[in-house]
Amino acid sequence: MNEPARRASPSGKPLPDAARFLRSWAERPLQMGAVQPSGRALARAMASYVDPASSGPVIEIGPGTGPVTAALLRRGVAPERLVLLEFSAEFCALLRKRHPEARVVEGDAYQISRMLAPLRLPPAVAVVSSLPLLIRPVTERLHLLRQCFALMAEGAPFVQFTYATAAPIPRQGKEHTATPSRRIWLNVPPARVWVYRRHAK
Ligand SMILES: C[S@@+](CC[C@H](N)C(=O)[O-])C[C@H]1O[C@@H](n2cnc3c(N)ncnc32)[C@H](O)[C@@H]1O
Repeated sequence: MNEPARRASPSGKPLPDAARFLRSWAERPLQMGAVQPSGRALARAMASYVDPASSGPVIEIGPGTGPVTAALLRRGVAPERLVLLEFSAEFCALLRKRHPEARVVEGDAYQISRMLAPLRLPPAVAVVSSLPLLIRPVTERLHLLRQCFALMAEGAPFVQFTYATAAPIPRQGKEHTATPSRRIWLNVPPARVWVYRRHAK
C-alpha cells in the first residue's frame, strides 16, 4: 500500500470519497468493480434487508469508503455490531476513523472464515456484500457463500448487489435459493440487490 501522504489531494486536503474511490479503481479496477461509490438508493436497498431489532453481528464485505455502512447505521444497526472486512488498507484506515466502534478487519473476503475466526463472533444476522463477484469463477463465489452461511444464524440473508442482469451467484443451489430486488434505477449504473438464504435444515 502507498504511504498515507499520497492519499491527500495536491492541496494537502483529504480527498472526497468519490476521488479516493476513482483513484483506487485506476490502481486496481478488477478488485474495485465500480468507478464510484454506491449511491444512497442502492445503499438503502442493501440495508433494508437487515433487521435492526435483531441481535448479533452484521458483517459487511467490501465496504470501500462506507456508503452501505452508513445506510446500515441510518437503519438503526448499532455501530458496535458492525464487522467490516475490506481488502484495501486505505479504506480500512478511513473506516476505522469514521466508525471507531465497528470492528474493521483488513483482508480477503474469499477467506472470510479464516479472517474472522479470531473475533469468535456469535452467529451473524446478515452478510452484506459489495464484492465484484463476477470476476471470480463460480466455484469461488459458491465457496464464499458457503463460508458466509456458516457464520450466519439460520434464515439470515446474504445480500449482494450487481450491475449485471444475471444473478451474481446461481440463484438456485443445493443449499440455497435467491431472490432479486427490482432494478434500482436511481443508482449509476442501475443495479439490483440479490438476497441468498440457506434452505432450512
Ligand atoms: C464495488 S466496491 C464497493 C464499495 C462500497 N461498498 C460501495 O458500495 O460503494 C468493492 C469493494 O470491495 C473491496 N474488495 C474487492 N475484493 C475484495 C476481497 N477479496 N476482500 C475484501 N474486499 C474486497 C474493494 O476494495 C472495494 O472497496
